[in-house]
Amino acid sequence: MELTKAAREFMPHRIEAPRIGLEQYYSEAGPDYAAWSREFNMHFGYYRAGANPLHREAMLEQMNREVLARLHVDGVREPKLLDLGCGLGATLRSFAHRLPNACLLGLTRVPWQVEQAHALNHAAGCADRVRVIQGDYEDTMLPRGCYDGAYALESSCHAHGADKGALLAEAYRLLRSGGRLVVADGFLEADRFCCALQRRIYLKLCECWVIEELGQLHLFTARLEQLGFADIAVEHLQLRVAPSVAHIPWVTLKFLLTDVVFGTRKMTRARWNNVLAPVLLPLVSAPLGPLTYCMITATKH
Ligand SMILES: C[S@@+](CC[C@H](N)C(=O)[O-])C[C@H]1O[C@@H](n2cnc3c(N)ncnc32)[C@H](O)[C@@H]1O
Repeated sequence: MELTKAAREFMPHRIEAPRIGLEQYYSEAGPDYAAWSREFNMHFGYYRAGANPLHREAMLEQMNREVLARLHVDGVREPKLLDLGCGLGATLRSFAHRLPNACLLGLTRVPWQVEQAHALNHAAGCADRVRVIQGDYEDTMLPRGCYDGAYALESSCHAHGADKGALLAEAYRLLRSGGRLVVADGFLEADRFCCALQRRIYLKLCECWVIEELGQLHLFTARLEQLGFADIAVEHLQLRVAPSVAHIPWVTLKFLLTDVVFGTRKMTRARWNNVLAPVLLPLVSAPLGPLTYCMITATKH
């Protein structure tokens, strides 16, 4: 069937295969995230009125708190929580300090991140309660129905499909009845790119961050519903993350001076991609484009 021009323009999934693999990207560019967050929070920040918008680390930590608040584990004596795509485990360590009885498990596909997370957990004195293992969040091989809460903080973007169906189905399987799912990430609204150039920028952004395609908000929530999740809520957080997004030019400039001009580690393609992607991001994000940051919560019935 012949696609109309408009339909072709909004077909973000018809892109070439990413040229650098996820493991290679996060292993080579991983140490560079230190320029963004000394705690290795590999996500954007959450701004609350009254907070200092210049204090990036505090906003990144606030995002961890916001995720925790939505997991609704206050009344659970020994909550079991699962981080689906945990990076270097910053969110898990943040939770470990707030939930002394929690059992915390993180999954990442990247062996380098597992090693680094172990070292950081030991340094933070929480290695006994925070475990990070290598695994695929679409097929974890963990036992079903065991978790009080699961979350994917800026990691669902890497899952397959515009509805992220395999990730959501696995999360549903792993949660106990009444368990909560929290996903915070960039999504495409059911909207169009303003022009072909913007669509090309979006494709380049995906290539740089090793993303097949971003989730489409309406398909994502429809899949949650179809799987049996209830209490589905979507919060649009574009304005909440904007103050931390505004740090990108400064962080990039500083990184170029300290790590590129005077750095000793070879700049690889993966590392350059990680410099370019945040620069492209505002060009395709609301209000200029269809990409918007959302926190989506749901309960397993
Ligand atoms: C941008 S980082 C976010 C890390 C962390 N959530 C944070 O906020 O600091 C994305 C993470 O998702 C993980 N990831 C991507 N696809 C995955 C998969 N199929 N299974 C497990 N982890 C995955 C990557 O390994 C990486 O650790």
